[in-house]
Amino acid sequence: MNVHYSDYLQLDKILAAQEPESVKLDAPAHDEMLFIIIHQAYELWFKQILHETGSAIDTMKRPAIEDNSPDLQMVVHKLARVGSILKVLVQQIDIMETMTPMDFLDFRDMLRPASGFQSWQFKMIEAKLGLKFENRHGREYYTSQLRQPQIDLIKQAETDQSFLELLNGWLERMPFFSESSNWSYYNRITSHSEPHVFWADYRHIFAESLAPAESNNLEYFDKIFIEENRGIERGLSAPASRAALFIMLYRGYPMLQLPFQLLNSLLEIDEQLSTWRYRHMNMVHRIIGTRIGTGGSSGKEYLRGALDKHYIFKDIALLTSFLIERRKLPQLSAEMERRLGFHS
Ligand code: HEM
Repeated sequence: MNVHYSDYLQLDKILAAQEPESVKLDAPAHDEMLFIIIHQAYELWFKQILHETGSAIDTMKRPAIEDNSPDLQMVVHKLARVGSILKVLVQQIDIMETMTPMDFLDFRDMLRPASGFQSWQFKMIEAKLGLKFENRHGREYYTSQLRQPQIDLIKQAETDQSFLELLNGWLERMPFFSESSNWSYYNRITSHSEPHVFWADYRHIFAESLAPAESNNLEYFDKIFIEENRGIERGLSAPASRAALFIMLYRGYPMLQLPFQLLNSLLEIDEQLSTWRYRHMNMVHRIIGTRIGTGGSSGKEYLRGALDKHYIFKDIALLTSFLIERRKLPQLSAEMERRLGFHS
């Protein structure tokens, strides 16, 4: 039998899935249709984001994923797609904002206690990417509005290895520093060799680049790249942070181009997610002012807290504080340059 457009997309189900409360209560509010459809569109895109992230996570779990393999290419591709979807999700706020506060008041109280707060898919996205329970804003009630099977799913996602944890493991496995042959003809600047001769040199150049008022940055450098006390707050260990910084510094070499794109796509995801949060928060302020949300949180204040706290890849973003000018970069040895070229 020929596949029919309507059957394939199950349009009967989708197009019958808008049931405004205001119509049920015999007080039809025109904008409730928009309100329902926009949330449904978001949830469909959330589903697609989970599909892409789940697949990227499965690939990253493979022990032998290589820096220049098709596998890594696919991971980058899927994450870039997530970034593009998020951009659309940010833009959809424009459509939501065509609804005025008075339009919303026509049906707002009929929805209580339903709220985007109960979007378990949104929380799954955060958890799968790497937001841990301990780092959540409003921990006391973040699952209080959810049904038990959904809570179980989120808790499971928080226990499973997140993308951030897998990224950390992959960065730690980067072979460039563990293979001493890459460094045997390297021209060192300093006499130190801890944690590695390259990083001892880099630390020295970085220290020289600091203005007197920035001297604290050196302590900060040691905390991130040298010391090994990694708490729950830190997503990347010291060796993983070193590998990520190295990728950013020498991303011009062919072997580092894909790894760089990977880091960049994660920064893009974080930026788009936080842009969405920011726009959603301002929209909430515009539509309900300082009233509490239908989900019972403090509304705008809660959303502000989540915005400030829920950056997932902030450890990658902060690496830019430790970059040095290209012309001051240590010159890599010929073996290392070969290793990073196409013909390693
Ligand atoms: C009139 C439009 C909207 C208003 C007034 C609004 C209001 C709120 C408020 C006040 C909260 C905080 C929780 C609460 O107490 O309810 C919230 C959370 C949330 N809303 Fe909306 N919202 C609107 C539209 C949307 C849309 C279109 C989406 C798309 C899915 C959405 C998704 C979410 C999500 C995911 C959260 C949880 C955020 C987090 O925990 O960080 N909202 N919303």
